[in-house]
Amino acid sequence: MEKRPGRFITFEGPDGSGKTAQLDLLVDELIQAGYPVLRTREPGGTPIGDQIRATLLDLKNTAMVDRTEALLYQAARAQLVDEVIKPHLAKGGIVVSDRYADSTLAYQGYGHQNTLASLQGIIHYATGGLIPDLTILLDLAPEVGLERRVSAGGVNRLDAYDIEFHHRVRDGYLEMARKEPQRWVVVDADRSFEEVRSDLREILLDRLQGWGF
Ligand code: TYD
Repeated sequence: MEKRPGRFITFEGPDGSGKTAQLDLLVDELIQAGYPVLRTREPGGTPIGDQIRATLLDLKNTAMVDRTEALLYQAARAQLVDEVIKPHLAKGGIVVSDRYADSTLAYQGYGHQNTLASLQGIIHYATGGLIPDLTILLDLAPEVGLERRVSAGGVNRLDAYDIEFHHRVRDGYLEMARKEPQRWVVVDADRSFEEVRSDLREILLDRLQGWGF
């Protein structure tokens, strides 16, 4: 019998969408149920990637230009793809990543208004062309995301909130989802945590079953 291929699932969406908390719970549940799931996150996910992450998030690095930022995301990603993602997929496992290449297109591309074609070029170089089998977008209006983070006390200087920027990011995500409907599933994150969680569980279990897990 032919070996079942590994599968690559990514979660995308704005801060405040509950993306990371939802992903953590789901991954724990899948692992408990015996699925060979490996969780990772971007930027970071490897020792070298975490050093790059620290550079990206360092508030002192105000001099960082757009291209440097875009390239650093790709450097962390290249390391993650080769060191973590590809080896697990090669074993027939399931990789679930908190953000991946679509974050670059959404934030550096649509958000910061850099040319998508150049970004697609460096993404392809960094990933060797590895594209997720399934991408889940937790969609939320920027105003709601901000509101949630303010009430959680989680807004910091990095959030220096430019509402127009976050609208472009959201619209970019929705456009990518429209262009590639076979890969993307859009989930309305403006509902209770439990409602979103039960939708996500259904989507994932259904997909995993379809893939023969
Ligand atoms: P992080 O603290 O991990 O936030 P989150 O929990 O929302 O994932 O910070 C990641 C930030 O980096 C987030 O604001 C999106 C941004 N980002 C990009 O701009 N481009 C990228 O390629 C990636 C991976 C992230």
